[in-house]
Amino acid sequence: MSLYKPETVECNGELFEIYLRQEQIDERVAELGEELSEKYKDKDPIFIGVLNGAYIFLSDLMRNVEIPCEVDFLKLSSYGDEKVSSGEVTDLKDIDADIEGRNVILVEDIVDTGLSMKYLINKLEKKNPASIATVTLLHKTEATHHDVQLDYVGFKIPTLFVLGYGLDYAQEGRNLAQIYILDGDNA
Ligand code: IMP
Ligand code: MG
Repeated sequence: MSLYKPETVECNGELFEIYLRQEQIDERVAELGEELSEKYKDKDPIFIGVLNGAYIFLSDLMRNVEIPCEVDFLKLSSYGDEKVSSGEVTDLKDIDADIEGRNVILVEDIVDTGLSMKYLINKLEKKNPASIATVTLLHKTEATHHDVQLDYVGFKIPTLFVLGYGLDYAQEGRNLAQIYILDGDNA
């Protein structure tokens, strides 16, 4: 498979450089898949992906999980077109599956302030699942000020705006196969 992974990329007029390479992402996603396969053996989990950002991570993660499992999606909007969070969460689409009594694995692309994840856990708990675990590919540890339960974290990162591998800047850049930051942000 020949993927889209330039060394630098311009997105909405700003220059981005590589932060996490495909090999690093693949390796970590495989580890997470292995952990989940072990932990959820005989538990028939349902993965719930948060659209849009988590779609690529979720598809890679699930293909590294070697037990029977299901998938569903919900959609939130919190960022608008800016590089900083709007501080508001809007429901755009709910899950269709009935998760009462099920073991839920909630999958996010990134946890920034923690507002979205906290909101989602609350929302899903009301549907009476047997358990909820959270997975996020990226965690901006210093930016998180909401008290939120994170069970599986791919990479802890500083408070930087990131792009690619599902993550967008004003809806663009999701198709990049690696993760990028603004040129100079890592200096
Ligand atoms: P939170 O609610 O502040 O934790 O923000 C979480 C959501 O904001 C994520 O699901 C992403 O969709 C988006 N987000 C947070 N940080 C970034 C980033 O650096 N790049 C792109 N999207 C981000
Ligand atoms: Mg998201």
